[in-house]
Amino acid sequence: MSDPTNPHIKERDTAQWALYQRENFLKQSEGQLPLFNTDPRKMEERAKEKLSEGGWYYASSNAGMSTTHLANRQAFHRHRLIPNQLVDTNTRSTKTTIFNHTVSAPIGFAPIGINKIYHPSGESAVATVASELNLPYCLSTAASTSIENVASANGTGPRFFQLYMPHDDELTISLLTRAWENGFDALILTTDTWQLGWRHDDVATSNYAFYRGFGAEMGLEDPVFRKRCQADGIDPDVDVVKASVKWIDSVWHGRAWGWDKIPWLMETWKRISGGRPFAIKGIQSVGDARKCVELGVDGIVVSNHAGRQVDGAVASLDALERIVEAVGDKIYVMFDSGVRGASDVVKALALGARFVFIGRLWIWGLSIQGEEGVRHVMKSLLADLDILMGVAGFNGVDDFNRDILESGPKNYTLAP
Ligand SMILES: Cc1cc2nc3c(=O)[nH]c(=O)nc-3n(C[C@H](O)[C@H](O)[C@H](O)COP(=O)(O)O)c2cc1C
Repeated sequence: MSDPTNPHIKERDTAQWALYQRENFLKQSEGQLPLFNTDPRKMEERAKEKLSEGGWYYASSNAGMSTTHLANRQAFHRHRLIPNQLVDTNTRSTKTTIFNHTVSAPIGFAPIGINKIYHPSGESAVATVASELNLPYCLSTAASTSIENVASANGTGPRFFQLYMPHDDELTISLLTRAWENGFDALILTTDTWQLGWRHDDVATSNYAFYRGFGAEMGLEDPVFRKRCQADGIDPDVDVVKASVKWIDSVWHGRAWGWDKIPWLMETWKRISGGRPFAIKGIQSVGDARKCVELGVDGIVVSNHAGRQVDGAVASLDALERIVEAVGDKIYVMFDSGVRGASDVVKALALGARFVFIGRLWIWGLSIQGEEGVRHVMKSLLADLDILMGVAGFNGVDDFNRDILESGPKNYTLAP
């Protein structure tokens, strides 16, 4: 099936991820079964069974009628890969580089808040797996584990910090300093979420864990935020719920920032970190991508937040195509929103993304089986990618280009 003594394995510079398939096929002979089915549709069902109604709604809610989420998936469906035969892929490599790190694959953990509502092991479990697989981990400002504890779980793994920027510069500086001192060596500012989009299920069920005391750990351990609490008569060690409400209201403040603030943030981060990369996440328009280039931003994440912010917005993959045409050679372009398997990763790279982030896939893994679940999902995704490259004739990420894609008619649909 997949010979573990294949001599080429030793010649490869990345693991024979494909062997994870063999491991799972052998399980029945050992009186076991694989952990769970990694078909995204099946994982979604399992996660729904496992989670509380609130956890499920928060993970699955999209903006409005979910039309952007659907558009994200339709765009992947419209693009088709063209496999090549009889290519010697025996020493293929899945590795790539991102922000001065050589990593196992062009796949990273997207920043996702409040992981403890999915599993008590929360962000630490996810960061542990990321480090083990040498895939970048991106920590959300809305996390339910402190910067310091996530860093310790992530060890020597590559890690980045995602900022929701408070309207309080001293607090921002404090967060960036802690992130840098704890090994987060790239900063990613998310600009599409001054507040959450209108997500019917969450609103209808008053589902906001942040107002129930979850997701403030990053603030509760921050010296500047603690000062702010004290000034308001809140003891963050005693009145956790009040402090949490204050924290999340200062992170998702409902107040927009403008482009004029970007030079300050970029300079501040570069000063603190000694010049490490700064990127903006949430870019969907060519105009915004050009502004990032003009301002000297190091990277952009073409993302529509998994369709959770603006209902009826363009598919992130379609935005990617246009943005790469305009600025793909001038800035490091990353991508997310709607990736559900290795073929989606390859399609995004073929359209010009240099790196892809994954969100819901690992949330489901975490919800179903904690750390083991995240490991299972991500190892399966790496195996899926490795096998796809092996059977479709791709030897490395540089082989993913427009020539390997065929695009169907724009009105090609996929049932919701
Ligand atoms: C439940 C959930 C929570 C999220 N939390 C954050 C967050 O805290 N910060 C952020 O920048 N993006 C957040 N995102 C967006 C992700 O970083 C990423 O853009 C998106 O999930 C990618 O799409 P995918 O889930 O289809 O892979 C969140 C997404 C989901 C589904």
